[in-house]
Amino acid sequence: MYRRPLVMGNWKLNGSQQMVTKLITELRTTLSGIQNCSVAIAPPMVYLAQARDQLVGGSGNISLAAQNVDVNLKGAFTGEIAVSMLKEIGVEYVIIGHSERRTYHHENDEVIAEKFAVLKSVGLIPVLCIGESQAENEAGQTETVCKRQLDTVLETLGVKAFENAVIAYEPVWAIGTGQSATPQQAQKTHKFIRDYIAQQDAQVAEKIIIQYGGSVNANNSAELFKQPDIDGALVGGASLEADKFIDIVKAAENAQQYQ
Ligand code: PGA
Repeated sequence: MYRRPLVMGNWKLNGSQQMVTKLITELRTTLSGIQNCSVAIAPPMVYLAQARDQLVGGSGNISLAAQNVDVNLKGAFTGEIAVSMLKEIGVEYVIIGHSERRTYHHENDEVIAEKFAVLKSVGLIPVLCIGESQAENEAGQTETVCKRQLDTVLETLGVKAFENAVIAYEPVWAIGTGQSATPQQAQKTHKFIRDYIAQQDAQVAEKIIIQYGGSVNANNSAELFKQPDIDGALVGGASLEADKFIDIVKAAENAQQYQ
């Protein structure tokens, strides 16, 4: 089954207007010929409009992603951003359920499922992050945790909600630590995730993009992209430097299984 991989840069709380201009200019110049891989960047919210202005009219192969969204559609919710606003500004993908939001902003599976639902309601693509902590990994609970994090969406919205959605498997112990999961470790969990969705709908499972995230870099990406159930990457630290991010995109572009 052919799945077009997605390499997405999650800039987190980093950047400035100057950095956005420089990074996007470099990415656009170098990535204009990319064919086998979708590319997206998720700058901080305040730079989305600037990024959009730089991306439109270009080669058209870098999409815009947001790092968060509110569950409420409008009203008295100080500091929040609604799905309609993201859509209006040209965002395609929205990252939800990232472990940093689960940890620092106490987002639980129920809130994340609500975010998934509001995104789907306006045609934005959720990038649902799931993954176990170090302690859960050591206790052999990787699959139990991933299953639980998927279940809330599956139970409230049904498996069809995963049509045109993305899952990012990001083991928490691998995020920002320089210690990526091995390709074999990641593949095992990706296969578990795909098989689990296949129990409910084989077609949805075959098509869904499952990215790997957690210390992906230019050196380990090619091996990760050889795994049959890894469909690209969600990249944090290495997406802040054009050269590093470009190397990861090129590894996806050249990966045998994505041809
Ligand atoms: P990292 O972050 O690549 O810096 O480990 C990945 C992520 O949190 O999405």
